[in-house]
Amino acid sequence: MDVSEAITSRRSIGRLEGDVDPKVLEELISHAILAPNHHLTQPWRFTILTGPARERLGEFWARLTADERGLAGEEREKWIEREKSRPLRAPVLIVVSCPVDQDPVRAAEDHSATAAAVQNFLLEAWARGIGTMWRTGGMAYHPEVKRFLGLDPSDLIVAMLYVGQPAMAPPKARPRELEKAIRWVTE
Ligand SMILES: Cc1cc2nc3c(=O)[nH]c(=O)nc-3n(C[C@H](O)[C@H](O)[C@H](O)COP(=O)(O)O)c2cc1C
Repeated sequence: MDVSEAITSRRSIGRLEGDVDPKVLEELISHAILAPNHHLTQPWRFTILTGPARERLGEFWARLTADERGLAGEEREKWIEREKSRPLRAPVLIVVSCPVDQDPVRAAEDHSATAAAVQNFLLEAWARGIGTMWRTGGMAYHPEVKRFLGLDPSDLIVAMLYVGQPAMAPPKARPRELEKAIRWVTE
């Protein structure tokens, strides 16, 4: 599969299963971090959660948010049951983060480089038949979740990357509007 085909055929895959070889994951990440990076700051951090680590994160998140909402009794149990399963939506969950520099220009550029690394990962994974889903959501922005993951609460979680073997057909493409995206400036 060439790059154009990988870009045009890639889809977010919501249902993922099976396993992914850790060596393949490391290879994908070693290629992801070849993304353009101003001043070679190498801001990206890939925190890879597999197996029970995903369950621990789910439990932590479910109880944290149940407490924050002051839930009790049956309502709390239902909430916890649903929320704790979130990190289990794939065999591998990669939290891709970067520090947020005090200099807003460097912070923006580090974020850009990290997002570019995420896209590299998505594309090569796709070309190798591995499914991915880039998510963020409440978990990605909660300082206590970052602490739980061993990150600094001030870090930015750019992606909660769900990775696994596709367990569904790729969804229909969601078209983008080229006319809105382009403006030619010629004189
Ligand atoms: C920064 C970012 C955050 C995202 N967060 C979520 C998310 O929380 N939940 C979700 O279902 N999809 C999320 N997505 C994926 C988009 O919804 C998805 O890319 C879009 O629907 C287009 O589908 P495609 O990737 O198959 O082209 C996120 C994408 C990006 C770039």
